[in-house]
Amino acid sequence: MKTLIFLGLAVSFFLCSQLKADEKKLPEGQKIFLKYGCNECHTVLAASIGKSDKKSTDDEEEAAEKENEAIKPPDLSNIGNEKKGEWVDLYLRKKEAIEGRKHKKRFKGNKEEKTTLVEWLGTLKTVPEVKDTKTDGKKAK
Ligand code: HEC
Repeated sequence: MKTLIFLGLAVSFFLCSQLKADEKKLPEGQKIFLKYGCNECHTVLAASIGKSDKKSTDDEEEAAEKENEAIKPPDLSNIGNEKKGEWVDLYLRKKEAIEGRKHKKRFKGNKEEKTTLVEWLGTLKTVPEVKDTKTDGKKAK
């Protein structure tokens, strides 16, 4: 009987810890990334974020998309190695640019959310598998 109780307790402890692990699975920054639809354009393959096919209702975005369809949003799996947090912060507020091109979308969340998002992006340091052979693996910036 004692062993049965012990087993029962062990099983429920195990289930509880599994549940907790599930809740914690997504980092806050990633939740913000998804919340503001960054994945409508960007993938983060290293964090298993594929492209969402949710159509945007944002006029600013739609106009921007039409204006310059040639520039594809990059996968952000290695952004932590490529850009400083400070730069990303400014870029998301359209105060920084890539070769004169500002970001398509101004970040609309609050300051806290922006900080959390930028911090999370800074942790993404996985070189994506697919490399552009034409530029010798280096991305044109
Ligand atoms: C409407 C599509 C679109 C949405 C939505 C979007 N982006 Fe972008 N993003 C782009 C494009 C296109 C580029 C590349 C711009 C260029 O090279 O001029 C880019 C570039 C970036 C870069 C720089 C990448 C690099 O390699 O230097 C970062 C960082 C970034 N986006 C983060 C975000 C975040 C965070 C969000 C959500 C708040 C977001 N983006 C939402 C289209 C989008």
